[in-house]
Amino acid sequence: MTRTKAIVFDLYGTLYDVHSVVQQCEAFYPGRGMQLSVMWRQKQLEYTWLRSLMGQYISFEQATHDALVYSCRHLKLDLDTATCDTLCKAYLNLSAYPEVPDALQRLNDMGLPLAILSNGSDFSIQSVVTSSGLQDNFSHLLSVERVGVFKPDPRVYTLACQALELTADEILFVSSNAWDASGARHFGFNVCWINRHDNTFDELGATPHVVVAGLDELPALIDAGRC
Ligand code: 2OP
Repeated sequence: MTRTKAIVFDLYGTLYDVHSVVQQCEAFYPGRGMQLSVMWRQKQLEYTWLRSLMGQYISFEQATHDALVYSCRHLKLDLDTATCDTLCKAYLNLSAYPEVPDALQRLNDMGLPLAILSNGSDFSIQSVVTSSGLQDNFSHLLSVERVGVFKPDPRVYTLACQALELTADEILFVSSNAWDASGARHFGFNVCWINRHDNTFDELGATPHVVVAGLDELPALIDAGRC
């Protein structure tokens, strides 16, 4: 393994908790908040993959909106325009996982450029990162918008190599999404999978180089030359 020269992070579910929308969901639909949030996220991902296969790129916000509409219809929850707007806006203000701010600071102190490469649009990535106050940690915020297709399409991962002027094996890609970690590994990145919830890694013909239970474990692994 080549020693890491830069770290590239996935955003949704990796640095930021997509289920921080549960409280707002719960306020509109008491007792159904987690169920809605889980289906909403799953459908959002499916819609990005399916749109990519169809060659029909839409923004991540549109996929998020469409997934919410579907989920509410499926769960028989009334969704008026104001509720839809409020819940979609909640996706622009997600909370970072608790260990993330300190861990990013420690990685920055190690002199490594840090970037985000996300299925989000430029606008949604900016919104999430700025509203959490973490923007100064990153040298690059990279959106799939530039290539008009979603991860795990390899054209997206190429954006990181181009922006950082590094080869794939000089980049450590960090994701909590096993499908994304698999795509990144096939592309040629070194890969760290964050497995916070004791999940099972996908059977997609790739395994991560390292697995951590939280981002706070990563600086020591880099220090030890493990990635
Ligand atoms: C991302 O941030 C959707 O989690 C995925 O690209």
